Amino acid sequence: MSKQYKNLVNGEWRLSDNDIKIYAPATGEELGTIPAMSQEDVDYVYESARAAQPAWRALSYVERASYLHKVADILERDAEKIGKVLSKEIAKGYKAAVSEVTRTAAIIRYAAEEGVRLQGEVLEGGSFDAASKKKIAIVRREPLGLVLAISPFNYPVNLAGSKIAPALIAGNVVALKPPTQGSISGLLLAEVFVEAGIPAGVFSTITGRGSVIGDYIVEHEAVNFINFTGSTKVGERIGKMAGMRPIMLELGGKDSAIVLKDADLEVAAKNIVDGAFGYSGQRCTAVKRVLVQEEVADELVEIIREKVLKLTIGNPEDNADITPLIDTGAADFVEGLVNDAVEKGAEAKTDIVREGNLICPILFDKVTSDMKLAWEEPFGPVLPIIRVKSVEEAIEISNKSQYGLQASIFTNDFPLAFSIAEQLEVGTVHINNKTQRGTDNFPFLGAKKSGAGTQGVKYSIEAMTTIKSVVFDIK
Ligand code: NAP
Ligand code: G3H
Repeated sequence: MSKQYKNLVNGEWRLSDNDIKIYAPATGEELGTIPAMSQEDVDYVYESARAAQPAWRALSYVERASYLHKVADILERDAEKIGKVLSKEIAKGYKAAVSEVTRTAAIIRYAAEEGVRLQGEVLEGGSFDAASKKKIAIVRREPLGLVLAISPFNYPVNLAGSKIAPALIAGNVVALKPPTQGSISGLLLAEVFVEAGIPAGVFSTITGRGSVIGDYIVEHEAVNFINFTGSTKVGERIGKMAGMRPIMLELGGKDSAIVLKDADLEVAAKNIVDGAFGYSGQRCTAVKRVLVQEEVADELVEIIREKVLKLTIGNPEDNADITPLIDTGAADFVEGLVNDAVEKGAEAKTDIVREGNLICPILFDKVTSDMKLAWEEPFGPVLPIIRVKSVEEAIEISNKSQYGLQASIFTNDFPLAFSIAEQLEVGTVHINNKTQRGTDNFPFLGAKKSGAGTQGVKYSIEAMTTIKSVVFDIK
């Protein structure tokens, strides 16, 4: 019989009346059973979390940091053990799964250290009139209370840890809702917090399908901040339900790699292939289209094609580059985009093969703006090349997207690269490199439908705190 996992609530492991079975996407193996929490279960999670907050908040930053350092130590120690389960649960290559865990430990450590250095400031009111000159404000950062962290399937540990640690160091308590496919990994993370001695109620978990309990956990008046990563569709819904409460939304993307005619095409192709096909394209920051100047398009397409043909295809435990997608719905969606591109005349430069949820890597040349593939986020291993006549056309097509997460520019003309970067409507522009979230202390954000608010350790702490001023007059 497979393992029955439990939720961490008020320092105890609890079952619910209903369960969900979790299967490995690549093999169909049953990995375990997780609780499907009821509304009453959620009420108790929130009640106990709120009750735990005053004592947690009363600790010094150094005391809170010491818990987080213990969590990071245990994650490093158990990276292979947790990585093995994570790899099976979301069909991510084993090495990448282990590095997801060690990267999480690094973020948690960085958050602990950043929190210790969190400082307020003292302001004088003197710049307005004589009376205001007597006024002094002591400005400090305060926690918000209860943070609801909702993580996506593609980074169930890392995009949980990157929310939890900045929230906790600032004196908040956290309830984590992991993705259903990824819940076991989320609950293993909770086991680490328990071993590190986290006080009861300070960190809790909520499992269950988002489509069933999502609205309830978000709308609940106990929640003070919602920190969500996932699809734009769900993010927009959460945004509407949040009302006046602050939120952080990290959503979908359609990142462009813009290749200019003077670029080092070998560097561009390597970054594009790594960026587009890592974890089979299931990354918000994946390169999701190439906009290349037509003078170098033939050459670039050929170099990319050679690299795509060398990608390995298989199972996560073998560290294959391309593994089965998370579920049948995801594979069907990619197939729909591929069929639309073929029907409208895109040139496939690789064979189009699907076996179950496994989609072999597909490269399309001559994709045009009437094709869905030019605009939609496949979240799968398919890369469209769009040929452009000018830099201006590349900027125009890039900016026409509803998304605005990141973009890359490949060129040796740095002044031009900076000028293009200024015109692109995205959160981050990479020059001569693939689009990517890290380094994790950098700001990470999306414009337009790619999100609201800014992640990155220091920025996440700022987002999950508020300012309180105490003002007095001096003689
Ligand atoms: P998703 O379907 O939106 O799910 C994300 C999380 O939200 C899961 O935990 C899900 O739980 C939960 N959820 C679903 N419906 C909900 C509701 N009504 N209320 C509250 N929570 C709800 O996204 P995904 O398929 O896991 O991830 C893929 C998407 O995320 C892509 O669009 C990708 O671009 C985006 N993403 C963005 C970033 C970024 O930083 N910008 C990072 C990673 C992924 P269940 O699993 O139980 O449904
Ligand atoms: O999927 C979204 C993640 O935030 C992407 O992170 O660029 O490190 O893979 P990554």
